[in-house]
Amino acid sequence: MRISVIGSGYVGLITGVCLAKLGNKVTLVDIDKEKVEAVNNRISPICEEGLREILREVSIEASTEYQRIMGSELIFICVGTPSNEDGAISLEYVAKAAEQIAETLKRKEGYCVICVKSTVTPGTTEELVIPVLEKSGRRVGIDFGVCMSPEFLREGKAIRDFMNPARVIIGEYDKSSGDKLLDVYRDFPAPFLRTNLRTAEIIKLASNAFLATKISFMNEIGNICKQLGIDTYEVAKGMGFDDRIGSKFLNAGIGFGGSCLPKDLKMLIGRAREIGYEPAVLEEVLKLNEAQALKLVEALKKHVPLKNSVIGLLGLAFKPGTDDVRSSSAIKIVEALLQEGALVKAYDPLAVKNFSKLFPRIEYVTKEEVLNSDAILIVTEWEEFNNLDYRGKIVIDGRRVLKAKEARIYEGVCW
Ligand code: UGA
Repeated sequence: MRISVIGSGYVGLITGVCLAKLGNKVTLVDIDKEKVEAVNNRISPICEEGLREILREVSIEASTEYQRIMGSELIFICVGTPSNEDGAISLEYVAKAAEQIAETLKRKEGYCVICVKSTVTPGTTEELVIPVLEKSGRRVGIDFGVCMSPEFLREGKAIRDFMNPARVIIGEYDKSSGDKLLDVYRDFPAPFLRTNLRTAEIIKLASNAFLATKISFMNEIGNICKQLGIDTYEVAKGMGFDDRIGSKFLNAGIGFGGSCLPKDLKMLIGRAREIGYEPAVLEEVLKLNEAQALKLVEALKKHVPLKNSVIGLLGLAFKPGTDDVRSSSAIKIVEALLQEGALVKAYDPLAVKNFSKLFPRIEYVTKEEVLNSDAILIVTEWEEFNNLDYRGKIVIDGRRVLKAKEARIYEGVCW
């Protein structure tokens, strides 16, 4: 099938290359010339396992020009929906993409389907995207179809997740719209749910909000267990045997970060408030998460005075396997350390470049140099941290790196 993908960020790029790998003829459209050039030169603009190899393999073209979508039967909108400080998201890029598609629709022959993949608040596809597309003079349900199909890709495992999804959610304006999208996903070995547009939109937000809730819940249990002298990881293990609970996402620590869980949670909270509902559970999940990272600094203070001490950080990325530092717990931790007058040294195998844009003045060193600090904080559970020699050190662990227990003084954030 001839497919266009608008937006070559995380979701767009993965969607584009994977659909190309499945034999479709894919065109990526992005306003960012650098990204377009990178894709055309087969250079991966993001750090994602397997992406470089797959980019070299597939036939895909990228362009800054919207007229390239003219021949497409299916057009995915995968642009970003950034949020501001108070959590309100901006739908500006979604609206712009829809406007540009509408321009093309005016001159486009034949039926095509536009599918929103960007994470949006419930109602966006019906109340914003469709009206903008209809400004073309073409009618939804007659000249073109519309779907909303959220993506559930974990950073670091995105290609695997795309090719082997746990589920495919097809929010459809009408049956013809959904049928077209199904043509692309048909062979995926996953359960399918065909539903309406706003249900698909909220399934994405509710899924991420639930994962966030699981983490904050376990962190709370961990905070209680620590005071009672109980090992929270043992508790999680015992709970996880119950398949109604499940054993995944029960790792207590310094909380969740990244570009999705915090943003999507805030998006859902914002939408609930807009309609006059106070989402008490969701608000508490977020509040707990804000406080959790700082518990690491509180634990540290019991062992070392922070003023003028050298504190070494192992890990800066929001999780292992990525160079992404967006909403990483490391940000709150470094801010707190600097505020208390500590000198910060940090190591991360991938994320130093991104973190140094936020904190250009802290020292970025090797992991061995981090070990020479007055105290060490473990912030991201990179596998390589399990091979370090912690003997004689003071280690405060935010992610449960077992080897670190050999330290002279060892304390976990909630164990
Ligand atoms: C998340 C979801 O897991 C994906 O399903 C979803 O598609 C994606 O957002 C998205 O909306 O695009 P991701 O942001 O890549 O994926 O990260 P996760 O693997 O979910 O981890 C999020 C954070 O939770 C990390 O900071 C991680 O350290 C933390 N976490 C995770 C815990 O603190 N404890 C756990 O048990 C699991």
